[in-house]
Amino acid sequence: MDIKVKTENIFIDRSEIESMRHEAGRALDRLWSGKEDMTGWVQAPLNMSEKLIEDILNVADAVKDEAELFVVIGIGGSYLGAKAAIDALPKFEIGIPVRFFGTGFCPDDYLETIELVKEKNTVLCVISKSGNTTEIKAAFETLKPVMAEKYGGEEEAAKRIIAVTDKEKGNLRKEADEKGYVTFEIPSDIGGRYSVFTAAGLLPMAVSGIDIRGLIDGAKEMATSPDWDVDGTDYAVARELLRRKGERIEVMEVCHSRLEFFGQWVRQLYGESEGKEGKGLFPDVMMLSRDLHSMGQYLQQGPGGIFETMVLVDRPFRDTEIPGGDLAGRTIGELNRIMAEAVAKAHAEAGISVIEIHIPELTPRYYGQLLYFLETTCAVTAMLEGVNPFDQPGVEAYKAEMRKLLKK
Ligand code: PA5
Repeated sequence: MDIKVKTENIFIDRSEIESMRHEAGRALDRLWSGKEDMTGWVQAPLNMSEKLIEDILNVADAVKDEAELFVVIGIGGSYLGAKAAIDALPKFEIGIPVRFFGTGFCPDDYLETIELVKEKNTVLCVISKSGNTTEIKAAFETLKPVMAEKYGGEEEAAKRIIAVTDKEKGNLRKEADEKGYVTFEIPSDIGGRYSVFTAAGLLPMAVSGIDIRGLIDGAKEMATSPDWDVDGTDYAVARELLRRKGERIEVMEVCHSRLEFFGQWVRQLYGESEGKEGKGLFPDVMMLSRDLHSMGQYLQQGPGGIFETMVLVDRPFRDTEIPGGDLAGRTIGELNRIMAEAVAKAHAEAGISVIEIHIPELTPRYYGQLLYFLETTCAVTAMLEGVNPFDQPGVEAYKAEMRKLLKK
């Protein structure tokens, strides 16, 4: 595998990591056994049929041919994977703008999106595994009449609506079948935050021009990598040992502005998978060096309980040199590297554990490796912690309360 993990700067004995490796290996075996609930994502990249990839690419091509705007309605796992990849990755194909909608109840966002849909030739894509999420229902019910009015009735609008949902269950599936929307399936054994390698993630990415085959190839490489259980388990085990030692917060640090939403994707993955039964690390995200100028003080001299995981891109896609002044001749990529090294040193000197994850370049292939690596690492850490990585009863609780309030 091309992702490398460095754990030299953590305050855990190497022997402790070694002694938990076996347990982590057993967790990995359970993930791969096919016997655990909701682990369809483990083999999804390997089992993905050529037909599904072709179907996604064909629909994406049709959307790009006919529309100027692709509005994706989704939230949580039905949104973050696609949004993060679209922000992070270069576009090798011609794509069209993708606007994500339904991620909250902001009236301004509603009014702006309605205007855009009226103005631009639009295809709508609603992504919801359950088909029962209030944010999604509100967004979809708002845009459907806008589309119907624009395209001359419900039937014509339906030709411009795509639904990505469960194969059989839920209201969205029912409606999609009745109205004849183009549909894609989120397999029932894959939860939202592990669904980036399904149509939920891949279709919006393909519409934006991302090379999804490269991404899937990267995930396959990671899934079959013979050395996963060295670097991968190191990271999973280090996180769990740090938690047991009393750390409460893991700050995921990225040094490329294009990776900020990737940080949000990881935050959901870790937060929903591990934060339960009174356990779990609180996952935070920082963009360096920007956030050093707002949170650096707290990290360096605050109350502690925090460790850092830096996700570092070794070779920036492009770079530029500073033409004058003290820094003349230095490249920005070089300064970024030096800044990251300085942070790791300064924070380690303050007693903060710093883990480094290195990705060679921000390409679809390496990014696919990284996503799969983090999904697996997260599941293994949660299993070491002794919680179910694949449920989210806490999220359901708020959804149920909101539905109750709406009935009043
Ligand atoms: O990871 C999860 O399961 C959640 O974040 C869901 O993705 C999110 O709540 C949206 O749910 P749904 O896709 O059912 O609308």
